[in-house]
Amino acid sequence: MIQVKKLHSNRWKEYKALRLEALKKEPTSFGSSYAEETKLSEVEWKRRLKNTIFALADDKRVGMIAFIFNNKIKARHIVNIFGVYVKKEYRSQGIGKKLIDNALLLISKNKKIMKIDLCVNQKQKAAISLYKKYGFKIVGRLKKDLFVNGKFYDELLMEKFI
Ligand SMILES: CC(C)(COP(=O)(O)OP(=O)(O)OC[C@H]1O[C@@H](n2cnc3c(N)ncnc32)[C@H](O)[C@@H]1OP(=O)(O)O)[C@@H](O)C(=O)NCCC(=O)NCCS
Repeated sequence: MIQVKKLHSNRWKEYKALRLEALKKEPTSFGSSYAEETKLSEVEWKRRLKNTIFALADDKRVGMIAFIFNNKIKARHIVNIFGVYVKKEYRSQGIGKKLIDNALLLISKNKKIMKIDLCVNQKQKAAISLYKKYGFKIVGRLKKDLFVNGKFYDELLMEKFI
């Protein structure tokens, strides 16, 4: 059975392993790179863990989603979703949907939030289809916004009002 929940900060190494796996295996899916994040400190991993929820299969982490509440005075009504990842062998079983469902539930508890935004590589058709399913709309295209292994990729900006 798949459970979705936060992890205690003492499980930061499991988070680190999953995030580095995501960056290594899916380099075109994320703005950050393995080479940069492999150098992050324990303090930083623990800080990031607070913004992340995980899909667990028999307590083994198999997917995750991160979201950050914008704390700038003029943008406190916005949340940014990022780092969405499900291990390959667990895909197409509804785990991505469970992660989004849970993230939306947590986000909607904050009544000040009006909007969720995210960026996605236009090649990530599964991710785009997942976000569209939840009412995210494509509102822009950042051309050649990622450069990975000698190739440029466009990023799509998506947003959803809640
Ligand atoms: C995007 C991702 C998280 C989806 O996870 P998942 O657990 O396989 O998703 P689900 O099984 O819940 O499927 C949810 C929806 O995604 C879409 N989807 C999933 N796999 C798909 C595929 N191979 N092709 C097209 N759409 C797909 C469908 O709309 C699906 O809904 P449906 O089952 O009702 O048709 C996963 O493919 C992944 O980790 N990709 C690599 C990382 C990535 O691109 N992250 C996004 C960064 S912005």
